[in-house]
Amino acid sequence: MPAAERPSVPTPIDRPRRLRRTPALRRLVAQTRWQPSDLVLPMFVKQELTEPAPLASMPGVQQHTIDSLRRAAEQAVTAGVGGLMLFGIPAERDAVGSQADHPDGILNVALRALKSDLGDATVLMADLCLDEFTDHGHCGVLTADGAVDNDATLVRYADMALAQAASGADLLGTSGMMDGQVAAVRAALDEAGDLDTGVFGYAAKYASAFYGPFREAVDSALQGDRRTYQQDPANRAEATREALLDIAEGADLVMVKPALGYLDILSDVAEIGARAGIPVAAYQVSGEYAMVEAAAANGWIDRDRAIVETVTAIRRAGTQIVLTYWAVELAERFATGALD
Ligand code: PBG
Repeated sequence: MPAAERPSVPTPIDRPRRLRRTPALRRLVAQTRWQPSDLVLPMFVKQELTEPAPLASMPGVQQHTIDSLRRAAEQAVTAGVGGLMLFGIPAERDAVGSQADHPDGILNVALRALKSDLGDATVLMADLCLDEFTDHGHCGVLTADGAVDNDATLVRYADMALAQAASGADLLGTSGMMDGQVAAVRAALDEAGDLDTGVFGYAAKYASAFYGPFREAVDSALQGDRRTYQQDPANRAEATREALLDIAEGADLVMVKPALGYLDILSDVAEIGARAGIPVAAYQVSGEYAMVEAAAANGWIDRDRAIVETVTAIRRAGTQIVLTYWAVELAERFATGALD
């Protein structure tokens, strides 16, 4: 177009690009930061396993033997991660999940092993849920007609809480989404005179397709779904109700799960946590991990950048603590500055 006919373009007065010009400027003004101690590594330990077993749907993640768990936990602590969340896969399952609170149950054995290795050098957390231990794969015990029986399940959670606390867990992750579970666990601990073990309430946990690879990780027996107890992805307001309830029942921290598709929920719960003075965590779940790894394996996205971007987004929404299967890798990259 001849210059004379060109429309005039106003010269911008505000120029936000000034603060993006160099890496140093961008670093100076970055609002969202995280460090390795904000990250928690979820780990799987399986009874009667002789060699660590890689998970096809979660490349880089394994089912551990007790020995490989001990080594990996040591490595995670050395890398500086803030804590470990343990899941156990028993050799035997039954209708009430007997291995969950048995002192020789795999999760309790693993907790004792890590406590004796690591003492208070890390925060040891245990998944307090029955689904890994029941033969039907639900997070609770069932009624005669197959529904998940909320109040009968609370009794099992109370027993689990005592077993896990006795085995050395610092925080109990109440992930079953039964009503009243935080109160039941807190009361059991208090009655036993255990005033120190904390409750990590999974305040808002959605019935998500993104737990798919986790089901492989724990050899899940689940038929059907968890929609009668986990939250409907369509709902936002009930996350507020769940978080307020967990806090009122005595949760020391609250968690939201999954993370990336639920940043609005994270933001809501972060606000509640800030007002109550309670730390808020998010769980970047197995499917979030698998999605990035699979796309990266195909050469479709830049894996290293995508990982940092997802964790940054979760932190930006207001979450302090992030449970992520990339915790050790991120901590190691943090140490070498290889985050871009
Ligand atoms: C329940 C539990 C689940 C996850 C953590 N705790 C599975 C479920 O609710 O179906 C999923 C974690 C993940 O997908 O990474 N014990």
